[in-house]
Amino acid sequence: MPIKAAVVGMGGIGYTHAKVYATDPLAELIAVCDINREKADKAAEDFGVKAYYSQKEMIEDLPDLEAVSICTSGLENGSFHFEPAMEALSYGKKVLCEKPLCADIRDARELVGYALKNRLYLGCDLNHYFTEIAAKAKGWQTAGEIGETVYCLHKVGPEGSDYNYRSTPDPRSRWMPPYSHCKAFLTHPFSVMRYFCGDITHVQAFLDRPGVRRTAGDPMLSINSVNCKFANGGVGVLISQRGDARFGLGGWWSYEHCGTKGTFCIENCVEQLTYWRGKKVPDAEGREVLPPPEVINTGIKDFGATFPVRIHAWLEDLTNNVSYEFVRASGRDALATLEYIEAVIQSYENGGALVRPNPLPPIHGTPEYIH
Ligand SMILES: NC(=O)c1ccc[n+]([C@@H]2O[C@H](COP(=O)([O-])OP(=O)(O)OC[C@H]3O[C@@H](n4cnc5c(N)ncnc54)[C@H](O)[C@@H]3O)[C@@H](O)[C@H]2O)c1
Repeated sequence: MPIKAAVVGMGGIGYTHAKVYATDPLAELIAVCDINREKADKAAEDFGVKAYYSQKEMIEDLPDLEAVSICTSGLENGSFHFEPAMEALSYGKKVLCEKPLCADIRDARELVGYALKNRLYLGCDLNHYFTEIAAKAKGWQTAGEIGETVYCLHKVGPEGSDYNYRSTPDPRSRWMPPYSHCKAFLTHPFSVMRYFCGDITHVQAFLDRPGVRRTAGDPMLSINSVNCKFANGGVGVLISQRGDARFGLGGWWSYEHCGTKGTFCIENCVEQLTYWRGKKVPDAEGREVLPPPEVINTGIKDFGATFPVRIHAWLEDLTNNVSYEFVRASGRDALATLEYIEAVIQSYENGGALVRPNPLPPIHGTPEYIH
């Protein structure tokens, strides 16, 4: 039986979720909801489902509804997530929340704590590592072909320059606060780093903004450099910016992972994977040489390709009755990224001090997962 699903918040991303539910064989889209009546009505017409203007009314009207996508936005792109996500959970619905899980770390801790305590399903759209090439790299890693992590280097952010800078004069804009880029965006690269390298134990951050932003009185700290140390060993560097510069090698999104047995690099998120094996092989003359890199080019350039894959994984986990603690890209996984962002902010506010992220709530399914 397909999962009966609804979407709350019918902006661009709500449409993206609704399209997946309407087309994925594991789901059936049964309703859409937006507090903006016009948007709700338009989406309802487009998808041929009922419109609601309040999530509470929708849930009470549709007893068969199983899963809800929270696609609201808010300040720093996440401040409107907590209330509808909590409300849907309190009705026992399975909740897939957009990122960042919440704009305020205290809300995120409460939301994740509530879901875990009540054994409820809470997932997050950490879609950046739901790609064919990330799965391929993960396969090599799981098979022991990458070895121990030596370092990872993640560079990510939209392209731009002085030439196309547009200031945000409205102080109510979701992009105005100083940490809006960190809070709205770094959840993605941290989720990728954690996917390949595990939990981060130490963080040190430097944040800045370019001259055009200073001149415009734009407080956003859009240039981010973060040094990380992982619990499993190895170190990581995250470089991010928000339309301040053109990125060079690897495009707008590159992740290089260097292990003791091999190195891989993902470029443009969905497009290309290169793998350099560390073990020498005999060449035509019988000499031991390092093999040339293996390159997989998917031909995919549109990062939008990540959404159907991530949402399908969520639907698979629900269909397969995976335990609430072990759904892929869980609320707890999303909380981890927000704890790292909180550590980034604390480090910056203390002149680049070393900060240890707050521990995550324990999960109980298997002993090795207990933090
Ligand atoms: N995963 C990704 O790669 C990715 C990419 C872009 C954006 N996002 C996230 O997606 C979310 C939505 O982004 P968007 O650009 O579509 O936002 P948007 O502001 O365009 O749309 C949000 C909609 O939610 C509605 N809304 C707000 N509160 C509501 C409530 N309580 N009940 C019902 N409707 C409510 C608003 O009226 C609006 O129509 C953001 O959190 C953003 O961070 C994720």
